[in-house]
Amino acid sequence: MRIFIMEDYAAMSRKAAELMAAQILLHPDSVLGLATGSTPVGLYRCLVERFKAGELDFSGVKSVNLDEYLGLPAENSQSYRYFMNRNLFQHVNINMANTHVPDGLTADPEAECVRYDELIRRMGGIDMQLLGIGSNGHIGFNEPADSFPVGAHCVDLAESTIRANARFFPESGQVPRQALTMGIGQIMQARRVLILASGREKKAAVRRAFWGPVTPEVPASILQLHPDLTLVMDRAAAG
Ligand code: F6R
Repeated sequence: MRIFIMEDYAAMSRKAAELMAAQILLHPDSVLGLATGSTPVGLYRCLVERFKAGELDFSGVKSVNLDEYLGLPAENSQSYRYFMNRNLFQHVNINMANTHVPDGLTADPEAECVRYDELIRRMGGIDMQLLGIGSNGHIGFNEPADSFPVGAHCVDLAESTIRANARFFPESGQVPRQALTMGIGQIMQARRVLILASGREKKAAVRRAFWGPVTPEVPASILQLHPDLTLVMDRAAAG
């Protein structure tokens, strides 16, 4: 595991963008596993800047997002599809047909999970998976549990996650209570994993995930077993 401790959020974002840009430059046809939330916003901003400066080409890149709320259409400003379009896709030359997010409006969540697993398999797996970490140690929407789920699945979000995400919604009652997420197995099969953590509210989760026992009670802890893991965090998260 490689660890970079950066001064602040801006430096963390620049470092992460450097690592992701290197992946794209070395392998222009990379399959990127992408994340939403507050943590990667700065990284996406840096990637867009580098694209606009003519340093990056996304035309061969394919992407699969980690997760999506169940019940939100792509046009809803809180959906993860909307987030990706706004923060990255619409600013770079990625082919939108090559960007994938689970379908939050599916009438059959189980079938959608099977489709998503199959899609990732057909794409040849993920070359670099980007992750944030929840303050309860979740990755994607894999919440603390008794076991590590392997494939994509539908989850009931933990109360702490619903509370944390309420900041993005006009009313807390509007936060969806279910989501579709990639499984831990898919994340672990990614050839490289890049996880970011920023802010002191992530300090305890980082400590438990990377300096504690590997347990499904802290889903991110399984990443200790990944052969190519990079953790980039700011000083506040490192504590
Ligand atoms: C987002 C995701 C989540 C977030 C995590 C941290 O696609 O899968 O696991 O990475 O909840 O969220 P932020 O970055 O908002 O603190």
